Amino acid sequence: MTAGASPRERRRVSVRLTRDAQRQVRGGHPWVFDASITGTSHDGEPGDLAVLFDDKRRFLAIGLWDPSSPIRVRVLHRGRPRPIDDGFWHEQLGAAFARRAGLAELAAQGTTTAYRAVHGENDDLPGLVIDRYDRTWVVRLDTAAWAPHLPAVLDGLQALAADLPGAGGGGAPWERVVLRSSRQARTGLVAMGLADGAMLAGDPPEDLIAFRENGLAFAADVVRGQKTGHFLDQRDNRARVGALAGGARVLDVFSCTGGFTVHAAAGGAAAVHSVDASPHAVAEVAANLDRNHDRPAVATCRATAAVGDAFDIMAGLAGEGARYDLVVVDPPSFASKQADVPRALGAYRRLTTLALPLLAPGGVLVQSSCSSRVPADDLFDAVHQAAAGGGRPLHEIERTSHADDHPVGFRQGAYLKTLFARVG
Ligand SMILES: C[S@@+](CC[C@H](N)C(=O)[O-])C[C@H]1O[C@@H](n2cnc3c(N)ncnc32)[C@H](O)[C@@H]1O
Repeated sequence: MTAGASPRERRRVSVRLTRDAQRQVRGGHPWVFDASITGTSHDGEPGDLAVLFDDKRRFLAIGLWDPSSPIRVRVLHRGRPRPIDDGFWHEQLGAAFARRAGLAELAAQGTTTAYRAVHGENDDLPGLVIDRYDRTWVVRLDTAAWAPHLPAVLDGLQALAADLPGAGGGGAPWERVVLRSSRQARTGLVAMGLADGAMLAGDPPEDLIAFRENGLAFAADVVRGQKTGHFLDQRDNRARVGALAGGARVLDVFSCTGGFTVHAAAGGAAAVHSVDASPHAVAEVAANLDRNHDRPAVATCRATAAVGDAFDIMAGLAGEGARYDLVVVDPPSFASKQADVPRALGAYRRLTTLALPLLAPGGVLVQSSCSSRVPADDLFDAVHQAAAGGGRPLHEIERTSHADDHPVGFRQGAYLKTLFARVG
C-alpha cells in the first residue's frame, strides 16, 4: 500500500467559509461542501489537512481536504487547535473501540463476532468505517483523503485490536485488513494505488469470512460483497424478527444474503421465501441457512428464494394469492440526493401497498428505509398513509433504528429507520 507523508509533514490548506458554514461547523456538523468555501490558500491534495478559519481569522476546526469531492472538508476536530498526529488517531480510534466494549465481549464469547468498530462521522472519524468480522477487519473509505493517513490508522487499529478480549495474549490481533471504498472514493484511491478489495495487511482470504450474529453462523464476502460484506446495522432488527417468527410464513424482501431469513428460520418460522435482485446474494441465503442446519428449527423451515425485481415479484406473489404472517421489506437507499426524496417516499408507499395484500390478517409488516435524506417521520407517515389508503391501517408494534455500534453523531447519521406494525 502507498505510505504517504506523516500527518505532521503534510501540507495544510487554509480555508475560509461562508457565515452559514461557520455556524454549521461550530454547531458540530462534520462536512463542509465546496459551495461553502469562500477562499483557500492553494489547491491542495486529497488528505492534506484543511484548517478552517472564521471571518476574524480565528481557528474554527481542522479536517481532511478532498478537492475531488463535493464534501470538500471532513472535520476531524473543532474548538481549540491541536496537532493531528499519531496520538490523535489513536485517541479517536480508542474512543470508538471503548464504545463497543460490550460487543467486543460478545465477540470473545463467540455470540456476535462481527460489528462496526468505527462508524465514520458518528465516531468523529468522518469518511472512515471499520467493520470487524472476527479476525478480519474491513476498512471502508468514503474519501481518498484517508489514503495518506492509512499507515497511522493501521498502527492504531493493530494496537487496539491486540488489547481486545480474547485477542490471544500477545498473539496477532488480526489475520488481515481489507480495503473497501465507496463508489465516490474509488477512482481517487485507485490513482493512489489502493484498489477496492486490496489487502492492507495479511493475505487475501481463500474463502468467505465466517462470523456469528446473535449466535447464528454466517459468512461474508468481505472483498466483493455489498458494503463490507454484511449489513451489520440490521443486527438488532434481525433478532426482533427472529422473536416474532415462531410458526410464521415469512417473506424476506430485499433479503441480500439472508440476515433476516436465517433469524426467522432459527426463530421457528414454518417457511421463509427470500427475494433479491442479486443472484450472488440469493445463492448465499441458502449457504447461510446451511451453516445453521444443526438447529432443528432451521432444518425444518421450508426455505425458498427468488432472484429478480422485488416490486415485480411482490406483485406476482399477490396475483398468485400467496399469504404471509410476516413480511420484511428492507430496500436499498432510494435517495442519493435531496431531489430524490419525493420519489423515494413514493417508492416506500408503493412497497407498503405491494406488501399489504401479501399479509394474512394479524400479520406483521417490518419496513425499513436506509435513505439518510428521508426523515424518519416522513417514512413512517408514508407507510401509514399507504396502508390506510389500502384499507388496512397499521397498528404499530415499535419504531427502531440501527444497532448501537452505529451511534448517531449528526442528523444524517440517523439513516436507518424501521417500522414494526401489525395489520388488521
Ligand atoms: C439494504 S440491502 C438489504 C439487506 C438485507 N435485508 C440484510 O438483512 O442483509 C438492499 C438489497 O436490495 C437488493 N436490491 C436492490 N434493488 C433491488 C430490486 N429492485 N429488487 C430486488 N432486490 C433489490 C440489493 O441487492 C441488496 O441486497
